[in-house]
Amino acid sequence: MTQDEMKKMVAEAALEHVETGTVIGIGTGSTANHFIDGLAGIKHRIEGAVASSKTSAERLAAHGIPVLELNNVDGLSIYVDGADESNHHLHLIKGGGGALTREKIVAAASRKFVCIADESKLVDVLGTFPLPIEVIPMARSYVARELVKRGGQPVWREGFTTDNGNVILDVHNLEIMEPVKLEQELNDIPGIVTVGIFAKRPADVLMLGTPEGVKTLT
Ligand code: 5RP
Repeated sequence: MTQDEMKKMVAEAALEHVETGTVIGIGTGSTANHFIDGLAGIKHRIEGAVASSKTSAERLAAHGIPVLELNNVDGLSIYVDGADESNHHLHLIKGGGGALTREKIVAAASRKFVCIADESKLVDVLGTFPLPIEVIPMARSYVARELVKRGGQPVWREGFTTDNGNVILDVHNLEIMEPVKLEQELNDIPGIVTVGIFAKRPADVLMLGTPEGVKTLT
């Protein structure tokens, strides 16, 4: 079974978490795309969706799924999104697609966060995947120096601009032993908009696609 087949399988299994008559939050990436495609088949059951990126909003709209603004809804029943890494506490690294800021906002506004991924994303310690950090453009060099002081090797994702008009630094060589603490510490550096560690608000459910079927961790 290919990695993409595992992503599709887990995305389809996550449809069981969709609550009828509610607005749901939708993530970004290839796994989230499979979820959006599956959601098209049950779109009559939901009021609409709030997207974490322009790309996902366009895909939802192409399927005729109503795309709503977060400001215009009271709250979201669930948020469904992929991840770049998850540990066994369901602390995540996200932002490989650069959508981390809106992903963190939509996740925060949702009662339940269902993370969907293929089994390769489950790790013991976060940090093998370079940590994406969204940064205000004029602060890029300053923030990079602050990250070096903390033992990281930041690499500017050149040519990429986020939906919010900012830049991404991908930080290599971090062994993230205390995700909640590091998320807080990095959040406090002026110029950082969002850190790709999702630990203060981890996933509530992690569904993993494996060759043996879907495994669920809570
Ligand atoms: C985008 C993300 C994605 O969830 C993450 O990159 C996983 O992507 P994929 O589902 O394509 O493996 O955080 O910002």
